[in-house]
Amino acid sequence: MAGVTGDHYFTAEPSTPAQPREVQFTVAGRDYALASSAGVFSATRLDPGTAVLLRKAELPGPATTGALLDLGCGFGPITGVLATVAPAATVWAVDVNERARELTASNAARLGVGDQVRVAAPDEVPADLEFAQLWSNPPIRVGKDELHQLLRRWLPRLAPDGVAWLVVARHLGGDSLQRWLVEQGWQVERHASQKGFRVLRITR
Ligand SMILES: C[S@@+](CC[C@H](N)C(=O)[O-])C[C@H]1O[C@@H](n2cnc3c(N)ncnc32)[C@H](O)[C@@H]1O
Repeated sequence: MAGVTGDHYFTAEPSTPAQPREVQFTVAGRDYALASSAGVFSATRLDPGTAVLLRKAELPGPATTGALLDLGCGFGPITGVLATVAPAATVWAVDVNERARELTASNAARLGVGDQVRVAAPDEVPADLEFAQLWSNPPIRVGKDELHQLLRRWLPRLAPDGVAWLVVARHLGGDSLQRWLVEQGWQVERHASQKGFRVLRITR
């Protein structure tokens, strides 16, 4: 999403002036209202791919414990939902975009789940931390090589019985990403397909 300043949503420090916005959506019967801003991904509405992911994947629940990863958290919609529905879990919200991290932290506080959420730049995540679940609407626009590198970095951090949920638009390569993941040795199930998006369930 290049703006007049040349920023992309994955720019580390967006130079686009912050324009406060609010994004409202409903997941699993609960209404959310989160702050967003220019300079972050899908600042004006819940991204349709993220909506499909949160509607179709198996959300964690009250019995879920351990660390969950929201890879590429943006302003934090996935983090907010995960922390709300899984109060015994810790959610690590990771993004390269500083403004996205700030918004996610303030949204977690606003939802009353700030104590459960750790917002971090990728290199700030402790190296020995294993994730019970990884959730992502990954940054396809960074290009295939960089996307593969991102997944090669984070998927191996799943616990042995961990599960990853990804949403990818079919026209942006959802099916070829699925094939690539299988080639890398992952078990990949096309869990759901809706509105042109694939929800992939990935395990060891
Ligand atoms: C498609 S957006 C999804 C944002 C948010 N989860 C949502 O659903 O609205 C992908 C996010 O990944 C972030 N990102 C890009 N490269 C990354 C990297 N190497 N590590 C972590 N996050 C990255 C972008 O800044 C962006 O916020």
